[in-house]
Amino acid sequence: MELKKRPLLTAGQIRKKVEEIAQRISADYAGRDLLLIAVLKGSLIFASDLMRRLTVPSSVDFIRARSYCQTHSQGRCDFLLLPEQPVTGRHVLVIEDIIDTGLTARCIVDYLAAQNPASLEICTLLDKPARRNVQIHLRYVGFAIDNEFVVGYGMDYEEQGRNRPDIHVLLGD
Ligand code: IMP
Repeated sequence: MELKKRPLLTAGQIRKKVEEIAQRISADYAGRDLLLIAVLKGSLIFASDLMRRLTVPSSVDFIRARSYCQTHSQGRCDFLLLPEQPVTGRHVLVIEDIIDTGLTARCIVDYLAAQNPASLEICTLLDKPARRNVQIHLRYVGFAIDNEFVVGYGMDYEEQGRNRPDIHVLLGD
């Protein structure tokens, strides 16, 4: 069934933004090796586009977590996949598709921080600041968006829409 949606960001706008972010990261991390930790599944397209534009030596690993809201500002999360590479002493950049409540990113950052990386930052393509439940510092943000549900460019609604090259807002009935 085709879902009702409204265009939000074109493939061209996304490409331009990814290039801008890649230039900032490459400048900020010049002279250092980066370990990118891509958060599955949503960031797979963003991470693969971004890493091909970085000019600093970069390796990539993956993490997958599912968060559950317990109270307004507290969450718990289960890790479904953990990085293979040790993060201790590495310059780690977590790559997210979207930060919504912030709970998933908070869990991931807390898990990685416990292993003493040399540095630890977050890069997200989209940010929904209106939905934030927990405090989290985002070093790189592509676009801040309204409180709407989006699909495309890796992001899904019930596993549909990840393969679209652009981003749409999903509309209710
Ligand atoms: P959190 O609320 O910040 O923990 O977001 C958890 C995850 O929910 C994100 O990493 C996304 O995978 C997913 N998510 C949140 N908002 C959207 C959306 O608008 N579209 C698709 N996935 C979303």
